Formats: sequence, structure tokens, C-alpha cells
Amino acid sequence: MINKAFIQTFGCQMNEYDSEKIIDLLKNHFAAEATLAADQADILIMNTCSIREKAQEKVFSLLGKWKKLKQKNPDILIAVGGCVASQEGDAIIKRAPYVDIVFGPQTLHKLPHLVSESKLHKKRVVDIKFYKNEKFSYLPNAIDIKPTAFVSIMEGCNKFCAFCVVPYTRGEELSRPVEDILDEIVHLTQKGVSEINLLGQNVNAYKSQLVNGKQVKFSFLLELIALIDEVKRIRFTTSHPIDFDADLINVITSDSKFGSYLHLPIQSGSNKILKAMKRGYSREYFLKIVEKLKSRNPKLSLSSDFIVGFPGETASDFEETLNVIDHVGFDHSFSFLYSPRPGTPASMLNDEVSIEEKQRRLEILQAKINSNAQRISQDMVGSVEKVLIENLSKKNKNEITGRTENNKWVNLPGDHQFIGKIIEVQITHAMSNSLRGRMALPAQERIYA
Ligand code: SAH
Ligand code: SF4
Ligand code: F3S
Repeated sequence: MINKAFIQTFGCQMNEYDSEKIIDLLKNHFAAEATLAADQADILIMNTCSIREKAQEKVFSLLGKWKKLKQKNPDILIAVGGCVASQEGDAIIKRAPYVDIVFGPQTLHKLPHLVSESKLHKKRVVDIKFYKNEKFSYLPNAIDIKPTAFVSIMEGCNKFCAFCVVPYTRGEELSRPVEDILDEIVHLTQKGVSEINLLGQNVNAYKSQLVNGKQVKFSFLLELIALIDEVKRIRFTTSHPIDFDADLINVITSDSKFGSYLHLPIQSGSNKILKAMKRGYSREYFLKIVEKLKSRNPKLSLSSDFIVGFPGETASDFEETLNVIDHVGFDHSFSFLYSPRPGTPASMLNDEVSIEEKQRRLEILQAKINSNAQRISQDMVGSVEKVLIENLSKKNKNEITGRTENNKWVNLPGDHQFIGKIIEVQITHAMSNSLRGRMALPAQERIYA
């Protein structure tokens, strides 16, 4: 019924993960294959994001293009999923009547069924309900394997930050059963995966229990995963400062499998703005976590999310954010201008700061973080780093590429035998977005893990 599927993904890693699962579901049900050519597909799928206005605008502009493809070939199905679908539901079909299927992040496992229903009955179908944990039990094991894999451990959010749509689009926090997570990870390692990247809107809000009733929180889940020998590295995204307890700090600084990198969103360095954002922590609380982490692992690299120009942000509030960046030395960021989202409490707030001033602040913030990143990279020149090799380099097939423990990309001469292995690399150059290096050890000793 479906031979070729084209998928366009917007938004976060959760959506990237969901898109991979969507393709795997279609492969399993229809023996379909993914195509990169939209004009050759039988189904066009859009996995949408509504975190900022710009992300949402992309949906209808791309749908406009797909409408033309459908005019040429009326048999093409158009399906819209993800966070915009979850928020808008039927309204998508009202505005774009050529859309056949609307599904949400919690109903993506039903897509094969929705496809059959739409095809057989020649009708439009919408299913954006929230089914508790049902999605996880229907997701197939990954088919295409790379050395590093995402594993979803929880979804949704109960925190309701004043600016954010996620609690409305993804629903309440739901944790996946421990056994399922461990099964998926073992399956992935059997296929050759070395690095596991645990995914969730707030991974450290993870809460579950073993069959014997023992409670499992995030730090314990990490300990269980670290026991699997074949897992060489464990990363996670995104953790929230509020749920960052002492056990979690202990676990991630006690085992080298957790590397030396943490992404911990702060959003702003001003207590006034943090309060207005309803983040639930102060600047001092955040800095305390960083201090504890760095006292146990001085090499730790930190990255963060920032929102610039939240309503009421004054020049001095912004100074406080810059001040925190200096203090922590963040070396990477996801930083954006505040975007008012319909239905969120912050969208009702008065905003007097001009767009030009906000843009100026964002540029200053990003320049500061880039200069931190340059300094950290420069300081790494000459050092020997453990690098997990992920691929052959895209630009040069005689080179390989991988990431250091503090999450920096390194390119070096090498071949496919090192893919999926951790090797020791001497860093020789710091470039603007990556490092260059060479194997640090003689041939027979190169593979560390
Ligand atoms: N749960 C994570 C973040 C998930 S959303 C946390 O709270 O730590 C990813 C990022 O999108 C947020 O950290 C925030 O920086 C950004 N974001 C969310 N809503 C936004 C909005 N309305 N305008 C601009 N950026 C936003
Ligand atoms: Fe959004 Fe806040 Fe939840 Fe993060 S914690 S997903 S920013 S509501
Ligand atoms: Fe976007 Fe939804 Fe992710 S709003 S950032 S796709 S959770």
C-alpha cells in the first residue's frame, strides 16, 4: 500500500527519534522504504515542532509545496504529526484540506492503521489523543544501526514553565518501564551500538519501579545501564536543574561512561526573570549544582539553553545572564529570542523591549559562548582524549570522525575499522567548530574500548 515514505522532521531530538520510529513502523507494516525525494513518495510525513513561532510557520509553508505534489499525483497521502498536530488537531485539515492524516506524538504508533483507514475509506483521519504509555509498547526495535543511538525513557512535562508549549503538546510526564528500556539497550548493543543517548523532555524526572516493587529514579536507571558492559558511553538530554539531586551528581561523576559533558538548561541568570518564567530555581541554586559537579570533575564541559528577551528582561537582567556564562564557562548553547506561544501564561505579559535590542543581546550572548568554546578547544591542543568514532568523515573518506568525552567533534586519519570504538587521540589543532588530531598510540594498542 505504501512503497516509499518521505519524512521531514522539525524540532528537538525527541522528534528525530520519533521520526526514526515512524519510518521503522512503515517498514515493518508495509515493507516501505524511506526516500529523500519527496516527489517519488507515496506518503509525505511532516513531524512538526511548535516551540517557537518560526518553527510553526514552517509547517504551512511546506504544506503549500506538498499541495502542488498532490495536485500532480492525487494518490499521495499527506500526514502531519508532532507538536503542532497535537496542539491544532482538526484545525490543520480546516486550513489545509488536502492533508489526509493528523497524528500526535502519542499516537505515532497508530500511523500504519491510520494510513490503511485513510486509504481504504478515502477519508481524512485525526488521532491526537494521549494514551498512557501505549506508544512505548508498540514501538519497533531500531532497524538502521549507527554507533550511537537514542533511547526514549520518558515523555511529557509537568513543569509548565510560563513560556513553553511542551506540557500541552506532549502531555504529562510518563516514564517507560525499566525492563523495556534495558531490553532496547541490550538489543542495540547486540547490533553494535556503543553510545546510548537517553531522551526525554525532563529525563531526570524519570520515575518507575522494578517488578519486585523497588522504586527506580533516574540516577538508579543510569547505574543499571552502566552495568551493561557493551555500553561504552551514556549521555542524556534534557535534564532539568530542579530534579538534579545529589545521587545523580554522584553517579555521573563516578563512572567514566558518563564522559565529561552535561547539557543543563538555565534559560536566564536573573532571579527576577527565572521567577517570571516559573522555572522553580534561583541562579544560586543552579550555580551550586555546577559547583558540586565541577568539584568532582573539574574537566566537565557544560552547555545550556537560554531565552533572550523574555518580557520584562532589562539590561541589568541580561547582564546577570552574561555574568553566569562567565562564571560557569558554558561552551555551547541553544539560545533563541523569546517567542510568545498561544495559550501559555507568558504570552499575556507586556513586552516593551524592542526586537532590535533583543537581537543585539542574543548576538552578545552567542559571541561570549563561542569565545568560551574557542578557549576550551585551544586548551585541548596537545592533550590525549578518548574519542568514540562515529563515522567516516563526510569530506574525506580517508578520515574518521568522533566525539571526545566533553562532546567536541574530532577529525583524524583512519578507516572504518575504528567506527564504534573508543580510541585515544592526540589533539593537534583547534578549528572553529571541531578539532583535528592523530592516533595517540601504536597500531596494536589503539583501541581503548
Ligand atoms: N525541558 C527542557 C527544555 C525543553 S524545550 C528544560 O526545561 O530544561 C527546549 C528549549 O526551547 C528550552 O530550554 C527553551 O530554551 C526553548 N524554548 C521553549 N519555549 C520557548 C519560547 N516560547 N521561546 C523561545 N524559546 C523557547
Ligand atoms: Fe518546557 Fe519547562 Fe517543561 Fe522544559 S521544563 S519542557 S521548558 S515546560
Ligand atoms: Fe518542538 Fe515538540 Fe520538541 S514543540 S522542541 S518538537 S517537544
